Amino acid sequence: MHELGRLEDLPQSYRDDLKALNLVPLWPSLRAVLPPKVPTRLTQPTCWAYETLRPLLLQSGDLTPIEKAERRVLVLANPGHGLENMKASAAMYLGMQLLLPGEWAPSHRHTPNAVRMIVEGEGAYTTVDGEKCPMSRGDLILTPTGLWHEHGHDGTEPVIWLDVLDLPLVYYMEASYHINGERQMVKPHRGDVQNTRSGVAPTRMFNRSDKSYPMLRYPWVDTKAALQALAKDDPAQACVQVTYVNPETGGDAENILGFYALMLRPGQTLRLPARSPAQVFHVIEGRVEAQIVDRTFTMVEADTCCAPGYESVTLKNLHPDQPSFVFIADESPLHRKLGVYEDRG
Ligand SMILES: [Fe+2]
Repeated sequence: MHELGRLEDLPQSYRDDLKALNLVPLWPSLRAVLPPKVPTRLTQPTCWAYETLRPLLLQSGDLTPIEKAERRVLVLANPGHGLENMKASAAMYLGMQLLLPGEWAPSHRHTPNAVRMIVEGEGAYTTVDGEKCPMSRGDLILTPTGLWHEHGHDGTEPVIWLDVLDLPLVYYMEASYHINGERQMVKPHRGDVQNTRSGVAPTRMFNRSDKSYPMLRYPWVDTKAALQALAKDDPAQACVQVTYVNPETGGDAENILGFYALMLRPGQTLRLPARSPAQVFHVIEGRVEAQIVDRTFTMVEADTCCAPGYESVTLKNLHPDQPSFVFIADESPLHRKLGVYEDRG
């Protein structure tokens, strides 16, 4: 490959002339923005142990009242992107959010899409588009772009959940903003009850739902049962995985990020192929070792890690006699829509 000319190779007067006219020569930066074969990735393999972040998150409950925070969150920031940029990967934001008994995080809506993976505690709820979604460990609750959402807590212990947003991407596009709203009127029905039976969709006199997001809560009890049924049905199948989908379309649950649950059989080691999207892994149940590039993370329940794209990841269930369950978020829907999705095996 040719060595390309450097900025320093150009006379200062020429560089000054370019700068005065808001012009930049491409060739000194060409290899940086279009490197050979593998993209430059700032995303570093990073693990956040729940045991270490939990006391600091609880401390934030003493230090900052909810009125001063609106959303009381510690962001899981990837050092490769610079902590202040609050990115787990190029397109993914991760935050651990705390809501104390009796607190209320007021209603708002925004352009970035969010999901919540509930980590700890009972009695909290998120109201999304008028639908009251109870929050229990392992449940996935969607707050897609543009839908009103607020969080309340009728229980007695702190509730903590993992937020996954496409905020870095939407912010990068200069399309990120929010609107505050009034407390929502709660509708009497629960959408997840209507949509939990696979293969059938609620129908009102031959009319299917016209909502973009007909299902907002994916109870862990149902997702776990689906994984266990899959594992039992095909004991030879190494990859026991489900995708969180829109039950009306069968497509991804949200537009930009993809969400999955994976069951690792007792003692199983599973190699995930090198695909273009960055990925996030969160242990819902069990003990899992994650090998990502040159790092090995030993993860227990509620630990979270991330992996850059274009790298294979090896997950090992450290339990010899019981399954482990992992929640995965990735940038697949985005990569597929943009036509840059790759599986390099
Ligand atoms: Fe929000």
